[in-house]
Amino acid sequence: MCGIFAYKGKRNATKTVFEGLKKLEYRGYDSWGMAFKKQGKIQTIKKVGKIAEFNKKIPENADYAIGHTRWATHGKVNEKNAHPQLSNNKKIAVIHNGIIDNYMKIKNILMGKGYNFKSQTDTEVIPNLIQENMKKSSFREAVKKSLKTMEGSFAIVAISQDSNEIIAAKKMSPLVLGINDNESFVSSDVAAFLSYTDKAIIMDDNEMAVIDEDIEIINLKENKKITKKAKSIGMNYEEAEKGGFKHFLIKEISEQEESIMRAINQDREFIENISKQIDNAFGVFFVSCGTSYHACLSASYLFSKIVKKHVNVVLASEFINYKHFLTENTLVIAVSQSGETADVLDAVRTAREKNSRIISIVNVPGSSLTRISDEVIPMNAGQEVSVLSTKSYTSQLAILTLIAYACAGKYEKGLGLIRKSAYYIKKIISNDRKKIKSLAKKLKDKRDIFIIGRGLAFPSALEAALKIKEVSYIHAEGLAGGELKHGTLALIEEGVPVIVISTSDSEANIENNANEIKSRGGFMIGFNSHESNIYDYFIKIPSLENMEPLITIVPIQLLSYYLALYRKCDPDKPRNLAKSVTVR
Ligand code: G6P
Repeated sequence: MCGIFAYKGKRNATKTVFEGLKKLEYRGYDSWGMAFKKQGKIQTIKKVGKIAEFNKKIPENADYAIGHTRWATHGKVNEKNAHPQLSNNKKIAVIHNGIIDNYMKIKNILMGKGYNFKSQTDTEVIPNLIQENMKKSSFREAVKKSLKTMEGSFAIVAISQDSNEIIAAKKMSPLVLGINDNESFVSSDVAAFLSYTDKAIIMDDNEMAVIDEDIEIINLKENKKITKKAKSIGMNYEEAEKGGFKHFLIKEISEQEESIMRAINQDREFIENISKQIDNAFGVFFVSCGTSYHACLSASYLFSKIVKKHVNVVLASEFINYKHFLTENTLVIAVSQSGETADVLDAVRTAREKNSRIISIVNVPGSSLTRISDEVIPMNAGQEVSVLSTKSYTSQLAILTLIAYACAGKYEKGLGLIRKSAYYIKKIISNDRKKIKSLAKKLKDKRDIFIIGRGLAFPSALEAALKIKEVSYIHAEGLAGGELKHGTLALIEEGVPVIVISTSDSEANIENNANEIKSRGGFMIGFNSHESNIYDYFIKIPSLENMEPLITIVPIQLLSYYLALYRKCDPDKPRNLAKSVTVR
């Protein structure tokens, strides 16, 4: 995680970096900082808290600046641990994303040479190692030498008082260069500089960029200069604005009719070709994390139901345990909003080693996952800023649903059903908002919320629980209705809220489970098509063949939003979380 943004050029450098960091806050927001060169000296500013909340003036007239927004890995959240980290002689500043695995070893060597360490970060070894290496060489050679010593996966940007260069390097963490006339940007993602330029050089692992008047790129393995042309990103990646909404979360929930329609606006031949590959593969694995995992799990039920095809759904962080089953005939479908989730990238690399075919479903164009896949299906959800996945979840589900229908030879039918779902979603958002808000008011002080579902509604229950807990901090647990009696029923007492999600084919069984809870005093909330007197509160979901997972999650996203508001939680930036998880 962590966001990196650096700038050298004709604009106000500190202001440009400050604005860039705001766009990268989804990568971490516990603290932020900046280093800049002004009047020949390296100066820094570091703050704890969200950058958007900083309302003082930032220093101006810097020659260039590098900035960082942090998601803590090593060391507590405080100013000392915020980046940039400085060398002992205060002449070198470094910002860093990722983890230096052997930092303790480097730290001990440097301490033996008399260096002091002021922070608990792994990052602080980098400027000091560069300082040590600069005893015998130039800044750029010292950075090169330091990079050789460092193990792990990281992206770094460094500046030195004794040079006019910004040096950026990466190994398995994202880093992109933005190129414009007389100005250069370094960023963790393209979107952060798209308002200035859409020309980018996407850096590959073991590359180092030296940014001065021009940009030089060096392949570190071969220690030679390489030529990489800036390419136009050519994407309609709108600059995210709240557009009248109070929070990105509610904005993104509200735009799902359009995002779903964009998601299914795919080339039919392309999707049918993918469905053929699924059909022919000897073993299909859906690989993903978090919300994307729930989209995959949901789709696997649909594959079973309408295609009669078994697909393995594996959490990316667990995928390594399945590597013995991979061959060149295996098809891995990696699903990721960001395309940067470290566990997903690791899983895909594992599959690559076995020569398996990789298809990915990704939202962020040009992200690392898109570059290591054989084929990419764009999600087209548009930029999602809130840390909570909402529109990206429904886009993933819409695409996977379309593929399932294509596999069943019913592409047109699938398309029609998804379109209708998008319409129903729009209606729910406008018609049921008040009722959902009142439900949030009733639930706001509860300690636990349980969500049950069966069949297609089971993955929805898992996703519903994730949405509620990550944004409201209420303990929420999703489970299969049939599992209640194997433990969780012990927690049901008078007034404990239980949300029951059902689909037309799981109605009867889930009602039995609902009765078991009701008779123990549970506060029953139905999110389904069939109203019954079991429910103390009921939100009607239109019944639409196999589309309930796509539709039902939307009112639950709304419920999560209102719970966050009532509980005074930040709906866009939940504590301890980040949108793009680039650590393992
Ligand atoms: C983080 C985000 C989640 C997301 C998960 C996987 O935890 O907060 O919203 O579902 O990462 O991210 P990906 O970008 O791979 O879909």
